[in-house]
Amino acid sequence: MPDGNGSGHLDPRVAADLAATPLLELRGVRAAYGKIEVLHGLDLKVPGGQILAILGPNGAGKTTTLRVISGLMKPTAGSLLLDGHDLTGAPAEELARVGVCLIPEGRGIFPNLTVRENILMDTYGSGRKLAELEERAFDRFPRLGDRVSQMAGTLSGGEQQMLALARALSTDPALILLDELSMGLAPLVVDDLFEAVQQLAKTGVTIVVVEQFADVVLGFADQVVVITQGSVRLSGTPADIEAQLHAAYLGMSE
Ligand SMILES: Nc1ncnc2c1ncn2[C@@H]1O[C@H](COP(=O)(O)OP(=O)(O)OP(=O)(O)O)[C@@H](O)[C@H]1O
Ligand SMILES: [Mg+2]
Repeated sequence: MPDGNGSGHLDPRVAADLAATPLLELRGVRAAYGKIEVLHGLDLKVPGGQILAILGPNGAGKTTTLRVISGLMKPTAGSLLLDGHDLTGAPAEELARVGVCLIPEGRGIFPNLTVRENILMDTYGSGRKLAELEERAFDRFPRLGDRVSQMAGTLSGGEQQMLALARALSTDPALILLDELSMGLAPLVVDDLFEAVQQLAKTGVTIVVVEQFADVVLGFADQVVVITQGSVRLSGTPADIEAQLHAAYLGMSE
């Protein structure tokens, strides 16, 4: 049925999502370290302006997936599409140029530079003035504005993530990849950060967040995939996933 309009089968929002070109798509992606394959044919799609959470235990392949999306690792098979363009095998610099921004585990800030100096570093790549980047950063994260002269390494963990996000924003990203944003942070801080991430998504930025623990992100993500041992096991809305995880845990306890 090429034209589903008026058929009444699909929620209009779901129909629009299905029809639109996803901002990010992985098709059958395989990736390996040396001879050891760790991603075994991963498929995922994220519509523009949505938050996808990738969940999975230690060693599942979450970071590797982000490395493939950001061009740090080339897939051995399958493809990477951004807004419908095939960018499989493109180098990290090219993906950065088209708007892919990875915030790695450990945050990607300079701990021995002040908040201002960290932001100053982004004036080079972005061609924007310090005042403009600071205004943008402090508008979104006022707490950073109170700490301009503080060494980034002495900020709280949550503030460091805010700085990492603020730095990511200076590049006008289309897609932000967040590797374990919540690591080592108190739940309330994590909620604050995810609220900021949700605000970003509302401005049209597409987000992929990787987390080990489901409860952190289920309240914020639009879609969730669960990967274990390099393959997608479950995917759906947070509500779907919650129900399926619950069923899986019940199944395991038999
Ligand atoms: N540099 C590397 N060299 C060899 N093997 C690696 C390397 N990095 C990761 N691996 C292996 O690849 C698999 C996937 O690792 P990956 O880091 O993607 O998992 P993850 O889901 O991010 O785990 P974690 O929750 O621990 O961050 C694991 O078996 C891991 O041991
Ligand atoms: Mg990881």
